[in-house]
Amino acid sequence: MKEIINVELKTRKVDFSKCETGLLVIGQFSDAKTLDKVGAELNGKLGGSIERLIKLGDFKGKTQSSAVVYGNPQDAAHGGIGAKRVLLVGLGEKKKATLDTVRSAAALSANKAVEMKIKNVSVALHRAFGARFDTSAMARACAEGVYFGSYRYDEFVTGTENGRLGSLEVELIDPDLARIKKLQKGLAVGGVIGKTQAYARTLASRPGNVINPVALASAAKKLAGDSKNLSCKVFDEKQLAQMGMGGVLAVGAGSKNKPRFIVLKYRPNSRKAGALPTVALVGKAITFDSGGISIKPAAKMDEMKLDKSGGIAVLATLKAAAELKLPMNIYGIVPSAENMPGGSSYRPGDIVTTFSTKTVEVLNTDAEGRLLLCDGISYAVRQKCDIIIDIATLTGACIVALGRYMAGLMGNDEKLIKQLQSAAKDSGEKVWPMPSGDEYAEEMKSKIADLKNTGGKWAGACTGAAFLRQFVGDKKWAHLDIAGMDIFTKATPSSTEGASGFGVRLLTTYLMKLAGGN
Ligand code: BES
Ligand code: MN
Ligand code: ZN
Repeated sequence: MKEIINVELKTRKVDFSKCETGLLVIGQFSDAKTLDKVGAELNGKLGGSIERLIKLGDFKGKTQSSAVVYGNPQDAAHGGIGAKRVLLVGLGEKKKATLDTVRSAAALSANKAVEMKIKNVSVALHRAFGARFDTSAMARACAEGVYFGSYRYDEFVTGTENGRLGSLEVELIDPDLARIKKLQKGLAVGGVIGKTQAYARTLASRPGNVINPVALASAAKKLAGDSKNLSCKVFDEKQLAQMGMGGVLAVGAGSKNKPRFIVLKYRPNSRKAGALPTVALVGKAITFDSGGISIKPAAKMDEMKLDKSGGIAVLATLKAAAELKLPMNIYGIVPSAENMPGGSSYRPGDIVTTFSTKTVEVLNTDAEGRLLLCDGISYAVRQKCDIIIDIATLTGACIVALGRYMAGLMGNDEKLIKQLQSAAKDSGEKVWPMPSGDEYAEEMKSKIADLKNTGGKWAGACTGAAFLRQFVGDKKWAHLDIAGMDIFTKATPSSTEGASGFGVRLLTTYLMKLAGGN
């Protein structure tokens, strides 16, 4: 895949004021009465300009805000600073700070650097937090943030470099060698996760005429080819028919781009795998969701190219798992189809026999995700996976319930839900628990089949999850409804608009914690 922006990350042992760089990044809390040690040191050598900026009220340290102070490198010999610019990044209220504060501040800095065409960035954000967080954890967050904020999707914009520099060099700096070692450790992990999330964003951003189920399957095969611990099996429409994958086939029936069922398998070298549960990640990959015969309205239908985001988050997480050499067996199960209206489409009223042998009455062809995912989940059950986590842009109702701030989290196992909540907290990809039990399952019963694919008017996210729950058997299961989280509809100070790569950090963090790391 074309590198959209080439990020290089490293650490450097250097004094903050001596650091020669295009942009030196430091943090400032909104409720801090004074500058911290690093700020004060720079301010002194800049003749008090940071203090003046703050006194004038031009920068208040609010989150997602920043200000640039110009350095005096030509004067470095006379006590000035080595940096051409100092970027002050707002960290908000000190007591509210989390690791995600570090991550977003780093993202904002990288976004600014790309915008300002600055090639070299030196980040000292960790110093503002003192001993509040583990130094490696902060470096990891910084690395993830740098990838996130510098990300651009412009592979179809012709012309040289699309008005931006093609690469960004970022270093985490500190004068203390012991701290540098810790920073280096976190940077390595965060670099893998950040890069993988960027991979997911690019794959997701590619439109329906570029990525269809067949193309997604080749991307998965290529991904597996890059690691000896990954293998990839792809079932085509004929094999799906033999296997009885009626759900996937029904959804894909209307498109000339035939469905595929992608199975990635990660097997670690480590012998610890036997003692750890086998995890299945199941992701919805509708490469374009027109709604099918129950067609969607025209407005914003283009956004439905992102209906493959759950499946892509799964592919990317397996890539990260392989690069991080996680110790457990992991399946990445990605059923993929294009949901289109046509002469061969499945229809409202059809009764479909799924891979589980359960029958489903189709009442709306736009509720396609659950039909495809239920086959993916059944496949995971057959592979005897201990834990099944599915991730899908499943329902508009989830956006109604939670907005674009957090994903819906449903499931049948308290411990698994708690672990995902904890991973959400660390990764900054937020989730909120929602129900999916008997009341909701009742709404999904059909009179003429085992299930129907739509519930009533209310609680659409919960009834959607309750449908999936019918396929998990006695396995531990969680469902992430990421509708709305797959996209930034507007640019923010820490990200461009478009595909978000949501789920990659969350799932990777979950797996790392399950492995006993932090
Ligand atoms: N992919 C959509 C859900 C979606 C909506 C994702 C908006 C992102 C933004 C899904 O396939 C869908 O169409 N769901 C229907 C279900 C309904 C027919 C029961 C919905 O939410 O309207
Ligand atoms: Mn749909
Ligand atoms: Zn959909």
